[in-house]
Amino acid sequence: MATITKDSPADVSYDVKDLSLAEQGRRRTEWAERSMQVLRQVKERFAKEKPLAGKKVSACLHVTAETANLMVTLKAGGADVALCASNPLSTQDDVAAHMVKDHGIKVFAIKGEDNETYYEHIRAAIAHGPDITMDDGADVVGALHMIALGRFDDLPPAVRRWVEGMDASARQALLDNVIGSTEETTTGVIRLKAMAKEGILRFPVISVNDSLTKHLFDNRYGTGQSTIDGIIRATNLLLAGSTFVVAGYGWCGRGVASRARGLGANVIVTEIDPLKALEAVMDGYRVMTMEDAAPIGDIFCTLTGNIDVLRSEHFSAMKDGAVISNSGHFNVEIDIPALEKLAGGKSREVRPFVQEYVVGTKRVFLLGEGRLINLAAAEGHPASVMDMSFANQSLGAEYLVKERASLSSTVHRVPEAVDREIARLKLQAMGSNVDVLTPAQQKYLASWDMGT
Ligand code: NAI
Repeated sequence: MATITKDSPADVSYDVKDLSLAEQGRRRTEWAERSMQVLRQVKERFAKEKPLAGKKVSACLHVTAETANLMVTLKAGGADVALCASNPLSTQDDVAAHMVKDHGIKVFAIKGEDNETYYEHIRAAIAHGPDITMDDGADVVGALHMIALGRFDDLPPAVRRWVEGMDASARQALLDNVIGSTEETTTGVIRLKAMAKEGILRFPVISVNDSLTKHLFDNRYGTGQSTIDGIIRATNLLLAGSTFVVAGYGWCGRGVASRARGLGANVIVTEIDPLKALEAVMDGYRVMTMEDAAPIGDIFCTLTGNIDVLRSEHFSAMKDGAVISNSGHFNVEIDIPALEKLAGGKSREVRPFVQEYVVGTKRVFLLGEGRLINLAAAEGHPASVMDMSFANQSLGAEYLVKERASLSSTVHRVPEAVDREIARLKLQAMGSNVDVLTPAQQKYLASWDMGT
């Protein structure tokens, strides 16, 4: 870790690739900001009202230009911010440098960092001593609770070594200091709801993912577009005429399926939920089991939040040249150890982000180490959808500070009124308007005996 004391508004500890990339990162962040009109309005209000004054925020998010705009918004609100990556491959090194150099934000993230460094960076963000944490996958909340429960063996080594060197009161203080957390993604919310159900969650969490202005847009249109972008950037394959298999027809899967179809692919959906499967059928896709899809797919993408969706028997059944990728949160949806075993422990990189495995006589190509392909090989979601997700994040943090006394230690939503206001502002920014109910329409909708 290093500290800079010049060229920076504050003494800042950080660990980024190269501070000289800051200028490029600044331009990239400004470009994203142009499409983040709602967050800009939040920032302007935060700068006046300082709702986060004196609060330390530790964020574990994808370190991208959009996230830089969120961090700057929190800082405008008075927060002292530390940021680490929620994925070792998703960091934009120039943006990380910009945040440190131009905004004095403590950033700990380097694209391609090994596991040890990745967790050391999470440790550094926790060591910031947060009042509020922001997660994308519940890693920080999970680690804080492992510490509080004394389950040190379940901690990543870098964090474990650190807490083992602390006395019990310092460990307790870490958790006691936290007012609450916000959570970005479906997988994180599932983990947090499981913690709340077990009665071990020690502070309130705001589920940003449950806001309609988050999952209806970010998960669907953001993941839809950027996942296809990642697959194309990694492979330069033609989607038109290909058979594209989407595993999981949730918000993300719907987005990817519709974008793949838009490019002319024949899309197959696999599901475990009959309702979602039925929806996919009526949306015009072929639905079948992965066992049936494996031999006919050209390109596969998993978006389920589940483990082992593509596994040994599927790899063995695939065509020569099949391409497999994941855009779900963790790199567990494809059973990579099983693929490695089938290929006799051998593989080779044939292009950046494309690893070739020979299974029997056939080649299977794994993209981006099975990690979120939209962040590994492309740039993640476009700024325009992250605008709404991060407006929810910043307003969620403000809500935690304002309502801390009334919030129980469970998973809460961003208030509905805030969600609707974000939609209204976004619509306005995109140049569209809605009609206003006439008094007669209002009366009609509130009555049961009119117009029958
Ligand atoms: P969701 O809960 O709406 O959808 C997941 C779907 O997968 C469900 O319909 C479920 O029935 C299905 N499923 C579960 N196990 C399956 C299996 N074995 N085979 C086939 N289908 C299965 O969740 P959402 O919001 O679509 O998120 C999916 C994943 O993507 C999560 O891990 C989430 O955290 C992640 N995510 C990734 C983003 C990205 O940038 N790539 C952005 C947002 C979310």
